[in-house]
Amino acid sequence: MKTFDIGLGGYSILQSPNMTHTQMMGYIIKTPNGKLIVIDGGNPGDAGYLREQIMESGGHVDLWLITHCHDDHFCALMKILEAPDGITIDRICYNFPPRDWLEAVEPSDWNRAFFEVIDANADLFQVLYEKDTLNIDGLQIEVLNDPMDFQQFTDPSPNGGSNINDTSLVFRFTFPNGKTALFLGDLGLRAGDILEAKYGDALKSDIVQMAHHGQNGAGENVYQRIRPTLCMWTAPIWLWNNDAGQGFNTHFFKTVTVRGWMEKLGVKLHAVEGEGPALII
Ligand SMILES: [Fe+2]
Repeated sequence: MKTFDIGLGGYSILQSPNMTHTQMMGYIIKTPNGKLIVIDGGNPGDAGYLREQIMESGGHVDLWLITHCHDDHFCALMKILEAPDGITIDRICYNFPPRDWLEAVEPSDWNRAFFEVIDANADLFQVLYEKDTLNIDGLQIEVLNDPMDFQQFTDPSPNGGSNINDTSLVFRFTFPNGKTALFLGDLGLRAGDILEAKYGDALKSDIVQMAHHGQNGAGENVYQRIRPTLCMWTAPIWLWNNDAGQGFNTHFFKTVTVRGWMEKLGVKLHAVEGEGPALII
């Protein structure tokens, strides 16, 4: 497994590889005392890998965070909740916009199925709000935004993408030794600008999960504030190279452009989902 030593002081972040062709996002954070935090998890086809990793680490998840209401993020969790097979979870934290809003913006059978799962497991699910902080074994997790922040704009999303991406919760992890990791979910351009306006240089982080699978997400201005040492890309190889079969950077994805932004910032370390599992320590 590819390992990146950032000096997390005994904590680790495992970036799951995509087990299907489709992009996904899944992280397992482990503390020195064996506590587990999962972020998202991926598509239904990614559930098997995730399950194996959780079981290898004892089978108990202390905290599961869901960034936003998209199937490539929550479906693996849904699979595991359907058939836990030994996996136990203390709590699942999230904050989605109102369901009628989600339904109006982007009607989806997956979303409806997930709402049913939330209702059926109401004791497990907990809504998080901006400025909430959680502490797992010395690791501090802070919620930096409100999913509906970007609603102050009424015009269509400038990303040309989904507004639901803009409702991603942003999490800042602060390890006991002061190292930081910022998880942007699928945050879009507009929500990224609001985040930058709120925090400015306080966004500085050692590690960043690149927004929206590394392209067509938050803008360069956000990364200029973050100034990361390591970028985590939830991108399969086709997306990393913007190659739908016609060669390097021949499709419409913006990944290569974003890679250029990071090069300008002097970032040397990149963990890419499509290259297999990556362990950040
Ligand atoms: Fe996504």
